[in-house]
Amino acid sequence: MGRYSMPLAPHLAEFARVVAGQVVLDVGCGPGALTGELVRRLGPAAVSAVDPSEPFVAAAKERYPGVSVQRAEAEQLPFADQTFDAALAQLVVHFMADPVAGLGEMGRVTRKGGVVAACVWDHAGGRGPLSVLWEAAHELDPEMEDESQFAGAREGHLAQLFLEAGLHQIEESVLTVDVEHPSFDEWWEPFTLGVGPAGAYTAGLDAKRRAQLRERCRDMLPPAPFLLSARAWAARGLV
Ligand SMILES: C[S@@+](CC[C@H](N)C(=O)[O-])C[C@H]1O[C@@H](n2cnc3c(N)ncnc32)[C@H](O)[C@@H]1O
Repeated sequence: MGRYSMPLAPHLAEFARVVAGQVVLDVGCGPGALTGELVRRLGPAAVSAVDPSEPFVAAAKERYPGVSVQRAEAEQLPFADQTFDAALAQLVVHFMADPVAGLGEMGRVTRKGGVVAACVWDHAGGRGPLSVLWEAAHELDPEMEDESQFAGAREGHLAQLFLEAGLHQIEESVLTVDVEHPSFDEWWEPFTLGVGPAGAYTAGLDAKRRAQLRERCRDMLPPAPFLLSARAWAARGLV
Protein backbone atom coordinates (compact mmCIF):
# COMPACT_ATOMS: atom_id res chain seq x y z
CA MET A 1 0.00 0.00 0.00
CA GLY A 2 3.02 2.30 0.17
CA ARG A 3 2.41 3.39 -3.41
CA TYR A 4 -0.88 4.96 -2.24
CA SER A 5 -0.03 5.92 1.35
CA MET A 6 3.11 7.88 0.37
CA PRO A 7 1.23 10.42 -1.79
CA LEU A 8 -1.62 10.49 0.77
CA ALA A 9 0.67 11.62 3.62
CA PRO A 10 1.19 15.26 2.49
CA HIS A 11 -2.59 15.65 2.18
CA LEU A 12 -3.20 14.41 5.73
CA ALA A 13 -0.40 16.58 7.15
CA GLU A 14 -1.86 19.59 5.34
CA PHE A 15 -5.40 18.82 6.53
CA ALA A 16 -4.08 18.52 10.12
CA ARG A 17 -2.25 21.86 9.64
CA VAL A 18 1.10 20.45 10.69
CA VAL A 19 3.61 23.31 10.60
CA ALA A 20 7.26 23.80 11.61
CA GLY A 21 7.79 24.23 15.32
CA GLN A 22 5.22 21.63 16.34
CA VAL A 23 5.86 18.32 18.11
CA VAL A 24 3.78 15.57 16.51
CA LEU A 25 2.88 11.89 17.03
CA ASP A 26 2.34 9.40 14.17
CA VAL A 27 0.07 6.59 15.45
CA GLY A 28 0.24 3.26 13.58
CA CYS A 29 3.24 4.49 11.59
CA GLY A 30 3.84 1.20 9.73
CA PRO A 31 7.09 1.46 7.76
CA GLY A 32 6.74 5.25 7.85
CA ALA A 33 4.80 6.79 4.94
CA LEU A 34 3.39 9.58 7.13
CA THR A 35 6.47 9.65 9.40
CA GLY A 36 8.57 10.70 6.41
CA GLU A 37 6.25 13.58 5.60
CA LEU A 38 6.28 14.74 9.24
CA VAL A 39 10.10 14.58 9.30
CA ARG A 40 10.22 16.70 6.13
CA ARG A 41 8.01 19.32 7.77
CA LEU A 42 9.30 19.28 11.35
CA GLY A 43 12.68 17.52 11.48
CA PRO A 44 13.21 14.10 13.13
CA ALA A 45 13.55 15.35 16.71
CA ALA A 46 10.01 16.76 16.63
CA VAL A 47 8.43 13.48 15.48
CA SER A 48 7.46 10.45 17.56
CA ALA A 49 5.86 7.33 16.12
CA VAL A 50 4.26 4.14 17.44
CA ASP A 51 3.11 0.88 15.90
CA PRO A 52 2.16 -2.48 17.49
CA SER A 53 4.10 -4.44 14.86
CA GLU A 54 7.76 -5.01 15.75
CA PRO A 55 8.93 -5.37 12.09
CA PHE A 56 7.25 -2.04 11.25
CA VAL A 57 8.86 -0.38 14.28
CA ALA A 58 12.27 -1.68 13.14
CA ALA A 59 11.66 -0.51 9.56
CA ALA A 60 10.57 2.98 10.63
CA LYS A 61 13.57 3.31 12.96
CA GLU A 62 15.95 2.34 10.19
CA ARG A 63 14.40 4.72 7.66
CA TYR A 64 14.14 7.70 9.97
CA PRO A 65 17.05 7.88 12.42
CA GLY A 66 16.42 10.50 15.04
CA VAL A 67 12.68 9.80 15.20
CA SER A 68 11.56 8.18 18.45
CA VAL A 69 9.73 5.01 17.37
CA GLN A 70 8.15 2.72 19.95
CA ARG A 71 6.06 -0.40 19.93
CA ALA A 72 2.57 0.52 21.16
CA GLU A 73 -1.12 0.45 20.27
CA ALA A 74 -3.25 3.55 19.89
CA GLU A 75 -5.48 2.35 22.72
CA GLN A 76 -2.56 2.54 25.20
CA LEU A 77 -0.10 5.24 24.24
CA PRO A 78 3.11 5.38 26.29
CA PHE A 79 3.12 9.18 26.69
CA ALA A 80 2.11 11.66 29.37
CA ASP A 81 -0.98 13.84 28.95
CA GLN A 82 -0.61 16.81 26.56
CA THR A 83 2.81 15.79 25.17
CA PHE A 84 2.13 16.71 21.51
CA ASP A 85 0.75 19.57 19.42
CA ALA A 86 -0.93 17.04 17.14
CA ALA A 87 -1.52 13.29 16.87
CA LEU A 88 -2.18 11.77 13.43
CA ALA A 89 -3.22 8.30 12.30
CA GLN A 90 -3.07 7.54 8.59
CA LEU A 91 -5.00 4.41 7.51
CA VAL A 92 -5.05 3.02 11.06
CA VAL A 93 -8.43 3.69 12.73
CA HIS A 94 -10.09 0.79 10.88
CA PHE A 95 -7.50 -1.61 12.34
CA MET A 96 -7.91 -0.45 15.94
CA ALA A 97 -9.62 -2.96 18.24
CA ASP A 98 -11.36 0.00 19.91
CA PRO A 99 -11.31 3.06 17.62
CA VAL A 100 -13.01 5.37 20.14
CA ALA A 101 -10.48 4.42 22.83
CA GLY A 102 -7.61 4.89 20.34
CA LEU A 103 -8.81 8.33 19.27
CA GLY A 104 -9.44 9.20 22.92
CA GLU A 105 -5.83 8.28 23.75
CA MET A 106 -4.61 10.41 20.84
CA GLY A 107 -6.59 13.27 22.38
CA ARG A 108 -5.18 12.62 25.85
CA VAL A 109 -1.54 12.89 24.69
CA THR A 110 -2.29 16.05 22.64
CA ARG A 111 -2.25 19.47 24.31
CA LYS A 112 -5.46 21.40 24.85
CA GLY A 113 -6.33 23.15 21.59
CA GLY A 114 -4.09 20.72 19.65
CA VAL A 115 -5.23 18.60 16.70
CA VAL A 116 -6.16 14.94 16.31
CA ALA A 117 -6.49 13.87 12.66
CA ALA A 118 -7.03 10.56 10.89
CA CYS A 119 -7.99 9.15 7.53
CA VAL A 120 -9.31 5.83 6.21
CA TRP A 121 -9.77 4.77 2.57
CA ASP A 122 -13.30 5.02 1.20
CA HIS A 123 -13.83 1.27 1.18
CA ALA A 124 -17.61 1.57 1.53
CA GLY A 125 -17.96 4.00 -1.37
CA GLY A 126 -15.93 1.76 -3.68
CA ARG A 127 -13.31 4.49 -4.16
CA GLY A 128 -10.39 3.02 -2.20
CA PRO A 129 -7.23 1.76 -3.88
CA LEU A 130 -8.39 -1.84 -3.33
CA SER A 131 -11.89 -1.37 -4.67
CA VAL A 132 -11.31 -3.08 -8.03
CA LEU A 133 -9.94 -6.14 -6.23
CA TRP A 134 -12.85 -6.28 -3.77
CA GLU A 135 -15.43 -5.78 -6.54
CA ALA A 136 -13.94 -8.62 -8.57
CA ALA A 137 -13.74 -10.82 -5.47
CA HIS A 138 -17.43 -10.15 -4.71
CA GLU A 139 -18.46 -11.15 -8.22
CA LEU A 140 -16.67 -14.48 -7.83
CA ASP A 141 -17.69 -15.00 -4.21
CA PRO A 142 -20.73 -12.94 -3.10
CA GLU A 143 -20.37 -14.20 0.48
CA MET A 144 -16.87 -12.89 1.07
CA GLU A 145 -16.33 -10.01 3.49
CA ASP A 146 -14.45 -6.95 2.33
CA GLU A 147 -13.36 -3.84 4.26
CA SER A 148 -16.48 -1.72 3.67
CA GLN A 149 -17.82 -2.26 7.20
CA PHE A 150 -14.55 -1.26 8.86
CA ALA A 151 -14.50 1.73 11.21
CA GLY A 152 -14.20 5.06 9.42
CA ALA A 153 -14.49 3.57 5.92
CA ARG A 154 -17.87 5.18 5.14
CA GLU A 155 -18.97 8.80 4.89
CA GLY A 156 -19.47 10.47 8.25
CA HIS A 157 -18.27 7.57 10.37
CA LEU A 158 -14.83 8.96 11.23
CA ALA A 159 -16.44 12.21 12.40
CA GLN A 160 -18.87 10.16 14.52
CA LEU A 161 -15.96 8.29 16.13
CA PHE A 162 -14.16 11.59 16.81
CA LEU A 163 -17.29 12.89 18.53
CA GLU A 164 -17.58 9.76 20.67
CA ALA A 165 -13.89 10.15 21.59
CA GLY A 166 -14.63 13.60 23.06
CA LEU A 167 -12.96 15.75 20.37
CA HIS A 168 -14.28 19.20 19.44
CA GLN A 169 -14.83 21.34 16.33
CA ILE A 170 -14.75 18.24 14.15
CA GLU A 171 -14.37 18.64 10.40
CA GLU A 172 -14.56 15.91 7.78
CA SER A 173 -12.94 16.03 4.38
CA VAL A 174 -11.98 13.86 1.42
CA LEU A 175 -8.33 13.32 0.47
CA THR A 176 -7.64 12.10 -3.08
CA VAL A 177 -4.52 10.58 -4.61
CA ASP A 178 -3.78 9.55 -8.20
CA VAL A 179 -1.34 6.70 -8.76
CA GLU A 180 0.07 5.66 -12.13
CA HIS A 181 0.47 1.92 -12.76
CA PRO A 182 2.90 1.08 -15.57
CA SER A 183 1.58 -2.47 -16.02
CA PHE A 184 -1.17 -4.80 -14.81
CA ASP A 185 1.42 -7.05 -13.12
CA GLU A 186 2.85 -4.11 -11.16
CA TRP A 187 -0.70 -3.45 -9.87
CA TRP A 188 -1.43 -7.13 -9.13
CA GLU A 189 1.80 -8.46 -7.58
CA PRO A 190 1.53 -6.73 -4.15
CA PHE A 191 -1.79 -8.50 -3.50
CA THR A 192 -0.07 -11.87 -3.74
CA LEU A 193 2.25 -11.02 -0.82
CA GLY A 194 -0.48 -11.57 1.78
CA VAL A 195 -0.22 -8.10 3.38
CA GLY A 196 -3.39 -6.55 4.85
CA PRO A 197 -6.96 -7.90 4.45
CA ALA A 198 -6.90 -7.79 0.62
CA GLY A 199 -3.50 -9.48 0.48
CA ALA A 200 -4.56 -12.12 3.00
CA TYR A 201 -7.71 -12.83 0.97
CA THR A 202 -5.81 -13.09 -2.34
CA ALA A 203 -2.93 -15.15 -0.97
CA GLY A 204 -5.41 -17.46 0.79
CA LEU A 205 -7.19 -18.48 -2.44
CA ASP A 206 -6.27 -21.71 -4.21
CA ALA A 207 -4.36 -21.28 -7.48
CA LYS A 208 -7.47 -21.63 -9.67
CA ARG A 209 -9.55 -19.05 -7.76
CA ARG A 210 -6.59 -16.69 -7.62
CA ALA A 211 -6.16 -16.95 -11.40
CA GLN A 212 -9.90 -16.22 -11.87
CA LEU A 213 -9.66 -13.19 -9.60
CA ARG A 214 -6.58 -11.96 -11.45
CA GLU A 215 -8.26 -12.22 -14.85
CA ARG A 216 -11.46 -10.54 -13.63
CA CYS A 217 -9.36 -7.64 -12.27
CA ARG A 218 -7.50 -7.42 -15.58
CA ASP A 219 -10.86 -7.13 -17.40
CA MET A 220 -12.07 -4.40 -15.05
CA LEU A 221 -8.96 -2.22 -15.22
CA PRO A 222 -8.08 0.04 -18.16
CA PRO A 223 -5.23 -1.04 -20.48
CA ALA A 224 -1.77 -0.30 -19.02
CA PRO A 225 -0.36 2.16 -18.27
CA PHE A 226 -3.34 3.40 -16.25
CA LEU A 227 -4.03 5.97 -13.58
CA LEU A 228 -6.09 5.00 -10.53
CA SER A 229 -7.67 7.61 -8.34
CA ALA A 230 -8.32 6.69 -4.69
CA ARG A 231 -9.97 8.69 -1.97
CA ALA A 232 -9.90 8.61 1.81
CA TRP A 233 -12.29 10.01 4.39
CA ALA A 234 -10.44 12.30 6.77
CA ALA A 235 -11.48 13.88 10.06
CA ARG A 236 -9.83 16.49 12.23
CA GLY A 237 -10.82 17.51 15.74
CA LEU A 238 -9.50 19.74 18.48
CA VAL A 239 -8.71 18.63 22.01
C1 LIG B 1 -2.36 0.28 6.52
S1 LIG B 1 -1.09 0.39 7.69
C2 LIG B 1 -0.77 2.15 7.69
C3 LIG B 1 0.65 2.46 8.03
C4 LIG B 1 1.04 3.93 7.87
N1 LIG B 1 0.32 4.78 8.80
C5 LIG B 1 0.83 4.39 6.44
O1 LIG B 1 0.07 5.31 6.21
O2 LIG B 1 1.43 3.79 5.54
C6 LIG B 1 -1.93 0.15 9.24
C7 LIG B 1 -1.01 0.18 10.44
O3 LIG B 1 -1.78 0.23 11.63
C8 LIG B 1 -1.12 -0.54 12.61
N2 LIG B 1 -2.08 -0.86 13.67
C9 LIG B 1 -2.94 -1.90 13.72
N3 LIG B 1 -3.65 -1.84 14.86
C10 LIG B 1 -3.24 -0.74 15.53
C11 LIG B 1 -3.58 -0.15 16.78
N4 LIG B 1 -4.52 -0.70 17.57
N5 LIG B 1 -2.93 0.95 17.16
C12 LIG B 1 -1.99 1.51 16.37
N6 LIG B 1 -1.63 0.99 15.18
C13 LIG B 1 -2.24 -0.12 14.77
C14 LIG B 1 -0.55 -1.70 11.83
O4 LIG B 1 0.48 -2.36 12.54
C15 LIG B 1 -0.08 -1.01 10.56
O5 LIG B 1 1.23 -0.57 10.65
